[in-house]
Amino acid sequence: MTSSRAAWWQSAVVYQIYPRSFCDASGNGIGDLAGIITRLDYLQQLGVDVLWLSPMFPSPQDDAGYDISDYQDIDPVFGTLAEFDRLLAELHRRGMKLVLDLVVNHTSDEHPWFQQSRSGRDDPKRDWYWWRGPRAGMAAGAPGAEPTNWASAFSGSAWQFDEASGEYYLHLFSRKQPDLNWENPQVRAAVYEMMRWWLARGVDGFRMDVINMISKDLAAGEFMHGPRLHEFVAEMHREALGGGTELLSVGEMPGVTVEEARLFTDPARAELDMGFQFEHVALDQGASKWDLVPLDLRLLKASLNRWQVGLADVGWNSLYWDNHDQPRAVSRFGDDSPEHRRASATCLATLLHLHRGTPYVYQGEELGMANTQFLDISAYRDIESVNYYAEALSLGMEVEAVLHSMAPRSRDNARTPMQWDDSSHAGFTQGIPWLPVNPNYVVVNAAAAVAEPGSTFHHFRRLIELRHELPVVVEGRFELLLPEHGQIWALTRTLGNQLLVMVANCSSRPVTVPAGSVPDVAGARLLLSTHPGAASRDLQPWESRIHLVG
Ligand code: GLC
Repeated sequence: MTSSRAAWWQSAVVYQIYPRSFCDASGNGIGDLAGIITRLDYLQQLGVDVLWLSPMFPSPQDDAGYDISDYQDIDPVFGTLAEFDRLLAELHRRGMKLVLDLVVNHTSDEHPWFQQSRSGRDDPKRDWYWWRGPRAGMAAGAPGAEPTNWASAFSGSAWQFDEASGEYYLHLFSRKQPDLNWENPQVRAAVYEMMRWWLARGVDGFRMDVINMISKDLAAGEFMHGPRLHEFVAEMHREALGGGTELLSVGEMPGVTVEEARLFTDPARAELDMGFQFEHVALDQGASKWDLVPLDLRLLKASLNRWQVGLADVGWNSLYWDNHDQPRAVSRFGDDSPEHRRASATCLATLLHLHRGTPYVYQGEELGMANTQFLDISAYRDIESVNYYAEALSLGMEVEAVLHSMAPRSRDNARTPMQWDDSSHAGFTQGIPWLPVNPNYVVVNAAAAVAEPGSTFHHFRRLIELRHELPVVVEGRFELLLPEHGQIWALTRTLGNQLLVMVANCSSRPVTVPAGSVPDVAGARLLLSTHPGAASRDLQPWESRIHLVG
């Protein structure tokens, strides 16, 4: 029971499904909608309120479905529209909601819109994408003649030369993902119409892929947070989301600042309900995403705290460690050794779910699924990893060094199949999985976790339950304690006369909470703990506790 001031999505927990890797009912080695339907009871038992499905639209799968060639259908590899309707009905019947992944910064180059656009300079859809001639004074197609020096997120230039017309088109991601030109009102109208079509089918909202890239200013060299970004997002809200709060909208926004996020999520501006920021997932990287540097816990705490403070009175946070683009949190922020894997996975969950905002659980996170092992380059599937490898070798880097830097960082870590049980391929498929399962599935799997009361699964279930039961988890004022401590993460949440106190040992060594540094919890109700003896000031490795005072 939450107070009437909170919107439904503030007391909700979202579960992200990556359809390729969730559950394969057809036996072709790729997950599908029919497979998801067979696992809804599991998700209901976990207690999540909303499913976010990564793209399952028709796609050449150059970027695993984030390259869409038809926005209004289902890729045959995943199923049919009829199966989609059945999934939606089954979810609604269980009181759960469904959010789709809206990838509208770009389409696939095989989308009919782009096919028309590239058919000639005079085509009416030419202006639906970003076509430009070579840099002034340079010959079209010559090295270095690209209209700007922008790099693609997946290596190489962000411009692809088109021989037929002598012009270049922009692709901030792969060359098979041309960027839509949102300056063109027809593009925006087509996107809103497509969104309304899905809403009429019954979906409950959208996760908006790289939404802060839709407004660009080529002259100023800006492709993020361009001059018309807020105008476009507000227009989308008005035209497609009905301006209300019944639907959930969450925008993925690499590089967004707290100040920008306040504007986006201020309810008075009717733009987005919440955004995914990237600050905390950049703290363990150096010069590039492939350059892993040791993480300082104090910086991680300070970063999340900055977002808590910045969005305390206006706006709303979304909270995540894991998703389909990030290495597994237990391997990255925790300790995935057999000794500490379970405790560190539960510790990270406790922390995150006790911040103020809507938590996102990525498939398998509730099992403490960890990064996988890659023997050589043939083990990778993701375009980002495969392209990086080729680029790094062409720059003269050693194979071993490149593979070493890729292993902990590759997005394929997140994309190994969901581990359902200890049968072959972890019960994910009867066929050969498109990406091998993590060899630890024999121990780490849903069947074992559901059967065992002390598992990570039941810990997540309890955290979700707490959010549903206690308004203080949803709305309570946040305060970070011991900001300078290198091992302990401690915080309080306050609402009326209720006080939640959370302490956690974020390390694989025991630690003692300094006397007087956190509110006294003697006599308080212990809501959740991971180790016996929760009254002492000594914390075992990765131990976490939540007390309710008052
Ligand atoms: C987002 C998606 C990522 C994709 C990219 C391009 O960052 O989460 O998976 O590769 O956008 O669509």
